[in-house]
Amino acid sequence: MNNNIISAAVISVASLIAAPAIAGDAVKGEAIFKKCAACHQVGPDAQNKVGPALTGVVGAKVASAEGYKYGKSIVALGETGATWTEEELSEWLIDPKKYLRAKLDDKKAKSKMSFKLKKEDERKDVIAYLATFSEPAAEGDAATEESTSTD
Ligand code: HEC
Repeated sequence: MNNNIISAAVISVASLIAAPAIAGDAVKGEAIFKKCAACHQVGPDAQNKVGPALTGVVGAKVASAEGYKYGKSIVALGETGATWTEEELSEWLIDPKKYLRAKLDDKKAKSKMSFKLKKEDERKDVIAYLATFSEPAAEGDAATEESTSTD
């Protein structure tokens, strides 16, 4: 029975180590989200604005915000079954138009989102912030907070 305790401890330590390696800083990300807030809302009461509501977007199917009128290209990508992992979101934020062109292998693909977030740190942090509104990632975020509270 001691083994159970030990393996539980090993698992939780492993998840503490794994989380910060991929996740950015959600608190910094909240400040960075101000750049996105010109067009996007996030949270339980978020509405579609210029861009779709981003609540739960981490892990969601591409172009799946209810009631939002997406551009043709991102709809086509969504129809392939593509989902927004943290890695894909980061690629998207570098340059949404280029992202759609590469993914769809279509030089004429367009994005209604013209905004680009070039700094890698800012992308990681804003994605960590968005992840706090997605169910499974919310747990990972609690682990991140615990493990970063020592610095
Ligand atoms: C100038 C307005 C504008 C800004 C600023 C902006 N976006 Fe967007 N965003 C859009 C629009 C418009 C779309 C819809 C794209 C389409 O239909 O082609 C979109 C789409 C998205 C999507 C795809 C959502 C889905 O449902 O598939 C994500 C993710 C996203 N934006 C994240 C961000 C983040 C994070 C920021 C800030 C770093 C940001 N956006 C800044 C306008 C904006």
